Amino acid sequence: MNKSQQNASIAVIQFMTKPLTSFLSILFLVASIAVANSPDRAAIASAHPMATQAGQEIFEQGGNAFDAAVAIAAALAVVEPQSSGLGGGAFFLLHVAESGRQVFVDAREVAPAAATADMYLQENGDPIPRASVIGPLAAGIPGQPAGLAHLAQKYGRLPLAESLAPAIRYAEQGIVANVRMLAGLRFRRKTYDRWPAFGKVFYPDGEIPEPGAVIKQPDLMNTLKRLAADGFDGFYRGETARLLVDGSRASGGIWSRDDLAGYRIVEREPVAGEINGVRIISAPPPSSGGITLINMLNILQGFDFATMDSATRKHLTIEAMRRAFRDRAEYLGDPDFVTVPVERLVSPLYAAGQRASIRLDKATSSDALPGIGPAGKGDQTTHFSVIDSEGNRVAGTMSINLWYGSGFMAPGTGVIFNNEMDDFSIKPGVLNSYDLVGTAVNSIEPGKRPLSSMTPTFLESDRGVAILGTPGGSRIITMVLQAAMAWMNGADANEMVSLKRFHHQFYPDVVVYEEGALTAEEQQGLQQRGHQLKKSPRAYGNMNVVTWDAESGKVDAATDPRGISEGRVY
Ligand code: DON
Repeated sequence: MNKSQQNASIAVIQFMTKPLTSFLSILFLVASIAVANSPDRAAIASAHPMATQAGQEIFEQGGNAFDAAVAIAAALAVVEPQSSGLGGGAFFLLHVAESGRQVFVDAREVAPAAATADMYLQENGDPIPRASVIGPLAAGIPGQPAGLAHLAQKYGRLPLAESLAPAIRYAEQGIVANVRMLAGLRFRRKTYDRWPAFGKVFYPDGEIPEPGAVIKQPDLMNTLKRLAADGFDGFYRGETARLLVDGSRASGGIWSRDDLAGYRIVEREPVAGEINGVRIISAPPPSSGGITLINMLNILQGFDFATMDSATRKHLTIEAMRRAFRDRAEYLGDPDFVTVPVERLVSPLYAAGQRASIRLDKATSSDALPGIGPAGKGDQTTHFSVIDSEGNRVAGTMSINLWYGSGFMAPGTGVIFNNEMDDFSIKPGVLNSYDLVGTAVNSIEPGKRPLSSMTPTFLESDRGVAILGTPGGSRIITMVLQAAMAWMNGADANEMVSLKRFHHQFYPDVVVYEEGALTAEEQQGLQQRGHQLKKSPRAYGNMNVVTWDAESGKVDAATDPRGISEGRVY
């Protein structure tokens, strides 16, 4: 072949490769969209095996991830009554495979119309002890039943009644008391007999039941049946509404029929960020979770972790937590009532400014940051993650706040009232149950949603997808942060839920850590920088993760080893 022939053939090759490359890339794109939309398998990770079972049943009946989410959430209301329920609220982060749409269903509780900013304060301005956590006055108007009706109607394939059927069966047949339920009952022991309807179900002989005792919930079964029959109206109007309002009022609560009939879920745009090719899609206000998570990740992405020792990495992570939680207290509240500077708080430029104040060799005292005045724990609340074979996803976090919520049950309903009103700032500078401080942006107003830390989240990248979340009050956000960073570094679902955790939330100016979360060397490195360390008396959190690996197609589900459940792939 002479030179010109060679050149000619090269030209032909070049000519051919161009369209060939774009053809190949189109093929690849189609393939990756096909992979991205359809894992061909379904998976569930929830806090209770019977809730996971309920979701599986719904898959077997032809339901999609949204139907399964309804079944799982309703089942958890029965089998994990200490953590969430019809008397509480929920956030559902959805990915609709067919359209690629991502939406956040906000079924958070709202303050009743008769609520006032100072309703938990004495005349002299001091807080009334425990008023925002105990009894019906501590309860916001529930959102979870409306959330379930909405999911079924707008996104599900099956009728609401079919997806509620497993929960109804569980309430009727009874559930076996497990260690976590009983720990919650010990926590509630002091107040259980103040509201006999609650005591009748959970302390049947006036005592905490023995492990293995069967607990039946006939009133809850009937409430679920009315929801199944009439959807929204079956809870927020008619018999259930009457029982809830009468029960509340007879015991010092302030709910009205109009509060219930007027409850509305809100579909919101999730907050999103991108760090090194990983998209983070998470909870917008009235949750503080997504903004605080993305803010921390943005601060951290400016540091070259690969060149640093682990004490320095943890120091920087704590400094990012400190700064993001400071802003949480200053800026975050219900966006329908206050202006939240979402774009600014999730912007990398804003994080660069925060990063500039971080020293490698020294902890910043929280008092040294621009002040808002002085500012968690646990595994009440519950999170589940689910994906179906078509690629629809739900990350759902649901809560009645503290164990068994406010401890109050309206007679005849089986519904445990939340104590989510405690997530408001009842007075600037007064700490809530998670030691969080707040400001006027999160003060009580009729119809307003209390600021939450619940952080149902999707992570998406070339690697695939992770669906995650956990209970844990203010610690939710730092748990999701650490699991997200682990996934970005190649961790699988099991490693994400098993990670030992540490936490800082601006105030108190202390790093709380689980046994094993900080090596002796890391503790020394942190203390030398001026961090105050406090070992958590017990492990915390109950994370549930589903992942889907785009390349291998493998779907994985893992539940927290601190809990009692296990993930399932179908
Ligand atoms: O919405 C919130 O942030 C809290 N009510 C969540 C409570 C919680 O996670 C309890 N678990 N420890």
